[in-house]
Amino acid sequence: MRSKASIKGHSLHPMLISFPIAFYTGTFVFDALFWWTGNIFYSQIAVVLTISAIVTALLAAVPGVIDYLYTVPPKSSGKKRAAKHGILNVTVLLIFVAALLYRRGNDDASINVVLLLEGAGMVLLLIAGWMGGTLVGRNQIGVDHRFADAGRWKELHLTADNGRVEILGYGELKTDQMMLVHVEDKRIVVARTEHGFAAFDDHCPHRGGSLAGGTLICGTVQCPWHGSQFDVHSGTPKAGPAKTGIPVYPLEMSGGKLYLQL
Ligand code: FES
Repeated sequence: MRSKASIKGHSLHPMLISFPIAFYTGTFVFDALFWWTGNIFYSQIAVVLTISAIVTALLAAVPGVIDYLYTVPPKSSGKKRAAKHGILNVTVLLIFVAALLYRRGNDDASINVVLLLEGAGMVLLLIAGWMGGTLVGRNQIGVDHRFADAGRWKELHLTADNGRVEILGYGELKTDQMMLVHVEDKRIVVARTEHGFAAFDDHCPHRGGSLAGGTLICGTVQCPWHGSQFDVHSGTPKAGPAKTGIPVYPLEMSGGKLYLQL
């Protein structure tokens, strides 16, 4: 799924998270050096790094929240994973804020306590990073898809009139290309095959992958998450792990315009 917080298809969240990760790690390393040498200079550097980590983490969270709300497919395993990823990152942030407040307002602050808090934060940061990697690597959140004949990702928000939706821009679709259409609260894929146009639910019945981000060949769409295949004209499953089919929608060509009936 192409990120909603991106520049020319390059998603912002993975770009920005490198800063807080570096600053969190630097904080822990310099506090460990302070613990080892007793040199207060290392502690002062750690404080500056903590503040930098907090500021850049908040900055990186903005595209992360946008992606969580608008990019990750709803009602999917990816949505749950993204929620856990976000909760873990907020926890890491709060832990480092707590460590900073503890040492700033307390002349007798123990470096052991600070290191313990930061160490716990680093462990959670690793787990959150693992989940973030899965969200990109397996769930393909933030991937800028290309279709057959170098077709680019297309996504439209359309309105229904008495359950009838005019599909704008359908002429741009070549054979084996798809576009994602949002109508009310539905996500529908409009596709072109060698047998004409087809419209079907974007939601894979296995774990909620976005079929618009999959591959379309010979009237069959393959889910990008675990490879389930469906006939796009009838909705019947052709290969698992999905056991059930997908809803399809009737299309009608009238006066050179393509209409979808909800
Ligand atoms: S989500 Fe698993 S095959 Fe589609």
